[in-house]
Amino acid sequence: MFKEITDFIKQQYPNQDFIPLHEPRFIGNEKKYLNDCIDSTYVSYVGEYVTKFEQQIQEYTGTKHAKATVNGTTALHIALIAIGVDMDDEVITQPLTFVATANAIAYQKAHPVFVDVDKDTMGMSPNSLHHFLKTNVELKNNVPYNRTTNRKISGCIPMHTFGHPCKIDEIINICNEYNIPVIEDAAESLGSFYNNQHTGTFGKIGVLSFNGNKTITCGGGGMIITDDKGLSDKINHLTTTAKVAHKWEYEHDEVGYNYRLTNVSAALACAQMENLSLFIDNKRDLATIYSDYFKQKNIQFITEPLNSKSNYWLNAILFNDKKERDQFLEFSNNNGVMARPAWQLMNKLKMFESCQTTDLTNSIYLSERLVNIPSSIRIK
Ligand SMILES: Cc1ncc(COP(=O)(O)O)c(C=O)c1O
Repeated sequence: MFKEITDFIKQQYPNQDFIPLHEPRFIGNEKKYLNDCIDSTYVSYVGEYVTKFEQQIQEYTGTKHAKATVNGTTALHIALIAIGVDMDDEVITQPLTFVATANAIAYQKAHPVFVDVDKDTMGMSPNSLHHFLKTNVELKNNVPYNRTTNRKISGCIPMHTFGHPCKIDEIINICNEYNIPVIEDAAESLGSFYNNQHTGTFGKIGVLSFNGNKTITCGGGGMIITDDKGLSDKINHLTTTAKVAHKWEYEHDEVGYNYRLTNVSAALACAQMENLSLFIDNKRDLATIYSDYFKQKNIQFITEPLNSKSNYWLNAILFNDKKERDQFLEFSNNNGVMARPAWQLMNKLKMFESCQTTDLTNSIYLSERLVNIPSSIRIK
């Protein structure tokens, strides 16, 4: 059975000895734009490609403001500062995520609280969130406080897992009842839509990543998107060392960060953006092929949730239990097909093991059974 599966995956990527999980494709203007950068000498934090990339993202996602950063992790960090997350606050997120989501909270010396995910979306469960807030949180002068810890809850970060949109409208409605601002970790979901609206544009702020394993990449890169002009100005200021504009003086009015994307990276990103729709169509075709195949084999393939259009960033299947999952991982990785389990749950990592959690039945279920299978774009 395992051999049949890996052979089928290999058929999707003919003439390749080793099938990676997700590799980048550079089939457009990448070299041309990189050469432009070098010829112009604009290789660093200022340049026309940075501005162009931000405009492309604004147009594609339908958001008013976009600020490019060096990666998705720094984008999350700045988003948290921008909404006012401070030392000893709490930020609600999900345990089934990449470590960057929880790390960004820790950078602010704030504490993550982990609520469960839904099995269908693999993203934050509105029910689990609602139950946590109802049983643990009270509003004091309209500010939400966790009764157990007496800490202020200053944000919530749901994540669109492997590109599949979570139930973001319900999550935002619940958070609104408690005055909790939402940052969407849309690092994996460029090209994914919920109710025809791009992921990352529902909350106060959304964050994207252009790491080498993402749907499009610029080596390393991130983007902070928001419709709020005040937040966007603040984000711009914070990511550019909080420098006050002046012809020659070096005046900085707070502790800032050197988190802006370089023009070289942005040049790569602009070329990648030109092929984004083609890439998404290709990835969705592959997901259909996988979905049909695994249905025949009676193996659960995770399809896009209701009311969503997913980018199918990383395709995922579920085995019956952890033992079977591990046997498949062993076979597949030994036979030229890269496959990976879901991340270790955040509350199991030693830095976060003392954080408060809800009942995590679904997160545990998924983390024990899920395997990501090769999902690269099949165009070269
Ligand atoms: C869910 C999630 N959040 C944040 C990040 C961080 O992005 P980056 O690697 O660009 O720092 C990633 C991916 O790498 C991610 O998958």
